[in-house]
Amino acid sequence: PDDRLIRAEGLIRSIPDYPEPGVLFRDITPLLADADALRATIDAMIEPFAGTFDVVAGIEARGFLLAGAVAIAAGVGLVPIRKAGKLPRPAASVDYALEYGTATIEAHDDIRPGMRLLLVDDVLATGGTLQAAHALVAELGGTVVGTSVLMELDALGGRAVVGDVHTVFGA
Ligand code: PRP
Ligand code: MG
Repeated sequence: PDDRLIRAEGLIRSIPDYPEPGVLFRDITPLLADADALRATIDAMIEPFAGTFDVVAGIEARGFLLAGAVAIAAGVGLVPIRKAGKLPRPAASVDYALEYGTATIEAHDDIRPGMRLLLVDDVLATGGTLQAAHALVAELGGTVVGTSVLMELDALGGRAVVGDVHTVFGA
């Protein structure tokens, strides 16, 4: 394994009882703050999909922290998948379930029929967010060629919901 990735994994900080008692929060901000760890992680997110996608779709908000870096490193463009009400001309919209209540994500028609997208987010938990992102891209006629996530929370079963997903770190 890549020594830089082992070091990067060590920079993910575990914070007990956040955002509520009993939850162990995985905080990736120390990894993001480290140049070498960030570079190694971005490269690892791209590696299985290099040359197969035309654009990166980053999911608001924390997915944005990675998607811009992935786009530049891979030499492709970027489209935002945003929470409801943030885009001036949403062309597609998908509702999805949260632990309490529902949320909505939207995209512009910059996602075009036939476009090959790499979906990027920071964490895979229940998989609801990425499942919704797949539906959103499909609504616009795009093709998801891959899904790349920095960290997977194994116990929450998101992989079964999302299907094929590349994750760099687990917990
Ligand atoms: C978090 C995280 C993922 C999502 C994973 O986003 O950034 O996008 O939850 O959870 P899931 O697999 O159960 O859907 P969140 O919507 O909490 O907020 P953010 O705007 O900070 O990214
Ligand atoms: Mg998020």
